[in-house]
Amino acid sequence: PAEDEARIDEIKRLLEANNAVLVAHYYTDDAIQQLAEETGGCVADSLEMARFGARHEAETLVVAGVRFMGETAKILSPEKRVLMPTLEATCSLDVGCPADEFSAFCDAHPERTVVVYANTSAAVKARADWVVTSSIAVDVIEHLEARGEKILWAPDKHLGGYIQKRTGADMLLWDGACIVHEEFKAKGVEDLKALYPEAAVLVHPESPASVVELADVAGSTSQLIKAAKELPHDKLIVATDRGIFFKMQQAVPEKTLFEAPTAGNGATCKSCAHCPWMAMNALDNLAGALREGTGEIHVDAELRTRALKPLERMLNFKR
Ligand code: 13P
Ligand code: SF4
Repeated sequence: PAEDEARIDEIKRLLEANNAVLVAHYYTDDAIQQLAEETGGCVADSLEMARFGARHEAETLVVAGVRFMGETAKILSPEKRVLMPTLEATCSLDVGCPADEFSAFCDAHPERTVVVYANTSAAVKARADWVVTSSIAVDVIEHLEARGEKILWAPDKHLGGYIQKRTGADMLLWDGACIVHEEFKAKGVEDLKALYPEAAVLVHPESPASVVELADVAGSTSQLIKAAKELPHDKLIVATDRGIFFKMQQAVPEKTLFEAPTAGNGATCKSCAHCPWMAMNALDNLAGALREGTGEIHVDAELRTRALKPLERMLNFKR
């Protein structure tokens, strides 16, 4: 529509005028992903978003995604201004892991190495020894397990259970879940697979174990797009947020992609997987943030220093 075109032009002008770069997650709207790509920003998984933002020389990072992604950017680049289209975009994993309760949990198990998923607040990260994203979690825990360390893991119990199964590590799990991926049901994927037995199944490991067990490949959003390219299959059943289809279909234009069915989280669409918080990022509030400087992320300096350590461990980790 014409008003979108006008907004897009305005955002392009504002990005330049503010010496700003747009960093977007694969689950944001197609128009935002397109814009990030066209303007020299990036569309990526959460680990690549963090790396890109930290290395980029722009004065302002505009992070389209959810709150923890903006906070991570600010922790890694305190000298940059970090803006988000809305500060309301949280994540059920973050909400389900309040810092005070988490801290008490850590206090009760002082012998364990604390590893937290990136989908957490700065205050939870500040209490951790390691931060990981889904693309690097198995490698890091394998490394810690080989050193004989026992792990305290938070917040995603499904991802935690998956890592535990892959590595055999001793892991004590926090009881959190992603409301989007939790809606995938093994029965739905099996029914679709019965219709298309030649299809490969790609699953984000925030999904329940029964769904991950059906996967040909389980991995982060970037890893799933990579797998879509590398697998020989020309039909793919994909269990993750539908936002991923924009870049995945561009990567494999000749392949047929099927959304794994969900019971529906009801917030944004009835029977598809779409994160209601990612969906809060829009062209209008993105333009507004750049125009008015709203949605700026601030992280307390002392908290930042503590949260930086486990984040840097992740960024410096080499397998
Ligand atoms: P990725 O690191 O795979 O992009 O995952 C982030 C996320 O929030 C998935 O729900
Ligand atoms: Fe959080 Fe799930 Fe949304 Fe990812 S999809 S941001 S894990 S609620």
